[in-house]
Amino acid sequence: MKITMIGTGYVGLVSGACFSDLGNDVTCLDIDEEKINNLRAGKIPIYEPGLKEIVQRNANEGRLTFSTSYEDAIAGREVVFICVGTPQLPSGKADLKYIFQAAESIAKHINNFTVVVQKSTVPVGTAKRIEGIIRSKTSVDFEIVSNPEFLKEGAAVKDFQNPDRIIIGTESERAKKVIENLYRPHSRVNRPILFMKRETAELVKYASNAMLATRISFMNALTPFCEKTGADIKEVAKGMGLDGRIGPRFLQASPGYGGSCFPKDVRAIIDFLESSQVNAQFFRAIDQLNEFHKKSHLNRIRKFVPELKDKKIAIWGLSFKPRTDDVRESASLTLIEQLLEQGANVSAYDPEAIENTKKVFPNIEYSQNPYEAVNAANAVVVMTEWDVFRSIDLNKVKELMLEKNIIDCRNIYDPAEIKSLGFNYAGVGR
Ligand code: UDX
Repeated sequence: MKITMIGTGYVGLVSGACFSDLGNDVTCLDIDEEKINNLRAGKIPIYEPGLKEIVQRNANEGRLTFSTSYEDAIAGREVVFICVGTPQLPSGKADLKYIFQAAESIAKHINNFTVVVQKSTVPVGTAKRIEGIIRSKTSVDFEIVSNPEFLKEGAAVKDFQNPDRIIIGTESERAKKVIENLYRPHSRVNRPILFMKRETAELVKYASNAMLATRISFMNALTPFCEKTGADIKEVAKGMGLDGRIGPRFLQASPGYGGSCFPKDVRAIIDFLESSQVNAQFFRAIDQLNEFHKKSHLNRIRKFVPELKDKKIAIWGLSFKPRTDDVRESASLTLIEQLLEQGANVSAYDPEAIENTKKVFPNIEYSQNPYEAVNAANAVVVMTEWDVFRSIDLNKVKELMLEKNIIDCRNIYDPAEIKSLGFNYAGVGR
């Protein structure tokens, strides 16, 4: 099929590359010329396992092309995906200006029946608004479909190839046929495809992310309970997760959830409910709890290093989770800011996210490896569960550190083992 992806961020680039890998003829369109030139040269703007190989292979074989021209990328297509960003406004509302700009450009250039698929996360009712914009500007026939993405950063290619479900919002039989054809490689291997109303599909996305955020906030809310009583949150999660009604996933206490989706999506629900004069207390609590929890790690450090001024604190992990270079809403950023306010010296290490963190904190010390970061440090704080920290040589770490304090905000170590090596240990909820 002939497809265009508008927007070459996470969603557009991963989906576009993967659709081309399934044999489709895909154009990835972006107004950022530098990005498109880099992509043409095989340079991928994000770190995402497996993506580079897929982009290069399909570009070489001519199935994946990159363009900055709406004129070239819209005419003659069967499906056009809108995958542009929806940044959060200070009010918590999603800023839809890029979506509407894309809709106007589509209207200007479509010349045959096209299924326009809204893929980036948008407030309920947006697909209808996009329809209104395009309808007012062209007489060419088209359908607007909602198809929310559920790609996890760091596992996005795998998630595209093997999704838990594909959600399609449309009541048009004509659009349904096109979409069924597009996702045939998935339905052939029995991946569930659910068709529903557009508004329902839009809400499935918000509801799924809010539920996952709720599970994490629920566990993080129990961490002070565990720390006061001596219970271990990891064991609590294991015990809870074996109940088939609860299940084991997304129950890990952590420094707080981050990333481009959970915080933004929960806040978008709050904004929608409050602007409709409906009680949003439940969702507000999830968001506030996460923000409060992200700020609680300073006190965990203070247990061992009460006065932080001029002390050296090492941070292991800057990205909001492993296998990504994304630091948006990462708990590490909150902690670094607090440490700097206290006059501490921060030395940070992350396998992928240093460049992105430098944009926020240009003046802290960045290390080449985890050992350099802990050299002469008063404490080390594990903020992201990269594998490199799990398999670290703790004896070497101990020799390098000035004071032997480990604050393990991802609970990756065995407390007894760490203590037997001569460290002070604090986890989250244990
Ligand atoms: C999420 C959704 O999972 C995905 O379906 C959606 O399309 C986009 O948003 P992503 O933001 O990439 O994906 O990351 P995810 O793996 O879901 O993790 C989000 C945050 O939750 C991370 O900060 C992670 O560390 C945290 N987390 C996850 C926990 O704190 N505890 C857990 O048990 C699981």
